[in-house]
Amino acid sequence: MTTTQAVAARRVSYQFETLWDFDYEPTHEDLQALYETAKKNQWNGSTAIDWSRAIGRDGPVLNVAMAFQGTNFFSRLTAEEQREVEIKVSAWRLSQFLHGEQGALLVASQLVNPMPELDCKLYASTQVVDEGRHVEVFERYVKRLHKIYPVDPLLKGLIDEILASGLWELKLLGMQMLIEGLAIAAFNLMRRQTGDPTLADLLDYVLQDEGRHVNFGYFALRRSIPLMDGKTREVLEEFAFNACDAMYGRDERTGFQSIKTVWSEMGWDAEQIWRDTITNSQTVKMFNRLLFTEVLIPRLQRLQLISSRVEPRYRAIGLLD
Ligand SMILES: [Fe+2]
Ligand SMILES: [Fe+2]
Repeated sequence: MTTTQAVAARRVSYQFETLWDFDYEPTHEDLQALYETAKKNQWNGSTAIDWSRAIGRDGPVLNVAMAFQGTNFFSRLTAEEQREVEIKVSAWRLSQFLHGEQGALLVASQLVNPMPELDCKLYASTQVVDEGRHVEVFERYVKRLHKIYPVDPLLKGLIDEILASGLWELKLLGMQMLIEGLAIAAFNLMRRQTGDPTLADLLDYVLQDEGRHVNFGYFALRRSIPLMDGKTREVLEEFAFNACDAMYGRDERTGFQSIKTVWSEMGWDAEQIWRDTITNSQTVKMFNRLLFTEVLIPRLQRLQLISSRVEPRYRAIGLLD
């Protein structure tokens, strides 16, 4: 990549309105409570987590052996190769979360401007600090574990679309509902599977904050969606469907494919392993489906964003019965 291309890939251009709120009248009771909790539960990434422990030595980092059960390639690897895959795949996955955290930081900082009500701005300000801290701890962890892998093009594209949108409702839907909703489900699973005490602590702390972020999005959208004009609502419906369609890993075309970088690094046939995983790993398939059907779809339904217009499309990709 040339330097000019690299600069262009890093830059997102956007235009949105910045609104003052001179009413100083509370509008969201649930957000005030959330704001209080956010102030009370701040933590310091440098001291809350004991960083003196060795990283990735005490047990499986993300237990990738489980994810690759049923595939042809994994059982044929030597114990040493399996261990290397464990570290690299964990670093690749955690790198995507690190980039996602940076994306959340950028989006949260944008939300302070266009959201019309002061209690939303105040709450969003606490999320900026939270996400800054998440970037800090993930960066520290991934660098010590192995190295930071590049951002997955699908994740980058999605976050860029959220950043570039002039609609704060789309930012909340994209970041707080979809990306953070999926991240929480993944963090919970990672928390159960990890044998590394440092990662376990990190996830416990991050999960506390993420729960609030999803609630923030839900409270604000629950209020704004019923008042929205038909056209804006359609924009949100389209965005939600397209994001689910791309992220729901169910065949060779879908899901986060930059894991192939790891396979190429090992000197293996990346395309073949990708196909092997998608076809034969029941755990991966089940987990991908569960993330959406248990977490995202019910929430989108509660927000009335799966209208009869888009419903058949969710059915066609297997996310609705
Ligand atoms: Fe976060
Ligand atoms: Fe978050």
